[in-house]
Amino acid sequence: MRVKSKFRCQECGQQSTRWLGRCPGCGAWNSLVEELDQPKTVSPAAINGLLEPCPVTEVPAQEEERFPTRMAEMDRVLGGGLVPGSLILVGGDPGIGKSTLMLQVAHLLSCRMPVLYISGEESARQVRLRAERLGALSPGLLLACETDIDQVERHLRQISPPVAVVDSIQTMFKSDLASAPGSVGQVRECAAQLMRLAKTTGISIFLVGHVTKEGMLAGPRVLEHMVDTVLYLEGDRHQFFRILRGVKNRFGSTNEIGIFEMSGAGLVEVASPSAIFLTKRPKGDVPGTAVAAALEGSRPLLVEIQALVCPTGYGTPRRMTAGVDYNRVALITAVLEKRMGFNLGNQDIYVNAVGGVRLDEPAADLAVACALASSFKDIPVDPGLACAGETGLTGELRPVTGVEKRIRESFKMGFSRFLMSSRSAALSGDDYGLLRADTLAGALEMALLA
Ligand SMILES: Nc1ncnc2c1ncn2[C@@H]1O[C@H](COP(=O)(O)OP(=O)(O)OP(=O)(O)O)[C@@H](O)[C@H]1O
Ligand SMILES: [Mg+2]
Repeated sequence: MRVKSKFRCQECGQQSTRWLGRCPGCGAWNSLVEELDQPKTVSPAAINGLLEPCPVTEVPAQEEERFPTRMAEMDRVLGGGLVPGSLILVGGDPGIGKSTLMLQVAHLLSCRMPVLYISGEESARQVRLRAERLGALSPGLLLACETDIDQVERHLRQISPPVAVVDSIQTMFKSDLASAPGSVGQVRECAAQLMRLAKTTGISIFLVGHVTKEGMLAGPRVLEHMVDTVLYLEGDRHQFFRILRGVKNRFGSTNEIGIFEMSGAGLVEVASPSAIFLTKRPKGDVPGTAVAAALEGSRPLLVEIQALVCPTGYGTPRRMTAGVDYNRVALITAVLEKRMGFNLGNQDIYVNAVGGVRLDEPAADLAVACALASSFKDIPVDPGLACAGETGLTGELRPVTGVEKRIRESFKMGFSRFLMSSRSAALSGDDYGLLRADTLAGALEMALLA
C-alpha cells in the first residue's frame, strides 16, 4: 500500500516515513508531525477570482455582509455577526459550557436557516436531551454524530447549510493519517480541510476546541493562525459567570467580551454585569474591600477587589491572587512598602477579584492598593467609592483610559464618589463626587475612612 502520509520536523523541515522521537536533522525532540503527502492548499486568489496583481483600488469591493446570531453577547464579540465563509474557533476548559453555547447559538440561527451540528463527542440522544433542557429544539437544527472528516465534508456539501458547528475539532480524524485523533497532525489536517471547505462554499463553521491545562488549545497553536476568529469561553467552574473573549478576529475588534451566567436552562446573557458582580458585596464597613471600575472592551465593569493581609505563621510569607495579575500585586505591595512605609515583609497577602472575573488591566491597581491598605490597617474603604488608576514605581498615580465611561457606570451603580489620578482627562459636565490624587499615598488618604 502506498504511504499517503509522512512525518515532518516542525523545526527544520526534515522528512521521515515514520515517527521519531528526535529529529535526525536538527536534533529537536518531539518535533515530528504527521502530514498528508500532498497537502492541499487553497489560495485566496482562487476564492476571489483574482489571479494577477492589480491595484488595491481596483479590487472589487464587496462589503463583508454579516448575519447576526441574535445572541447579543455573541454578536458583540464577533464584531456584529457572522461573516459568511469564516472559521471560528471556540476554545475553553473542559466542562465550561462550550457545547451549551454552541447549541444555543445553533438554535437561534436555525430559526432562520438550516444549521448542521456535528457532534463527535456525544451521542445524538445526549445532544437531544441537552437541546430539550436548553429549549433549543427546532426542526431547522440538523444533527449528525460523526468523527470522520471526509464524512463531515460530505454532509456539509450535501446539505450546504449557511452555518455549521463541529464539536470538537479534537475528535475529528482523517483516515489517511495514521496518528490518533487529537494529535497535532490530525487536528491540523482536519482544520485545514474545513478551512478549504468554508472558503470555497461560504459555509461559516464554528470549531469547538479543548484547552489544555497550560491554557493552550490542545494540539497546535497553528490552529489559531489558520482560523479567522478565536473565541475563548472562560470563567471559574465553581462560579456561574462565563466570559466569552475574542482573542483574534479578522473581521472586528478583539477587546469586546460577552458575559453570560450559567443556569439550568443554559447560558443566559448578562446585560448589566456590574449589577451582578456587586450583588454579594459585604454590607457595612468591612476592611479589605474596594471597588475597581474596570473597562472590558467598550464596556465598563465594576468589580469588588478583596484583600486579606495577616501576619505570617511561619517561614516565608504567602502571596496568593485570584482574578488579578500576581505580578502587579507584587509591584503594588513593593510600592506600599517602599513609598508608604507599610511593613508587609512578614505578612501573608491574599487578593481576589470577586465573582470569578479576571482583570488584567493596570487600572485595577488603585483598588488593589486600597483593599491591601485597608486590610493592613484594619480601616474600611469608603463604601460609596469606586476607583480606577494605575500605580507607578515611584508611588505616583497614573491616569487610565476611558475614565468617563468608568465614572458614569460607577454613578449609575449607586456610587457617589470616584477616585482617580489628578492627571486624568478633564470631564465634560460637572465634577461633583470626583476625587483626584497625584500619588498613591494621597489617594489612600481619601479612600480610607479615617
Ligand atoms: N442541569 C444543569 N443545570 C445547570 N447547569 C448544568 C446542567 N447540566 C450541565 N450544566 C452545566 O453545563 C456544563 C457542561 O456544559 P458543556 O457540556 O456545554 O461543556 P463543554 O465545555 O462542552 O464540555 P466538554 O469539554 O466536556 O465538551 C456543566 O459543567 C455545568 O456547569
Ligand atoms: Mg462539549
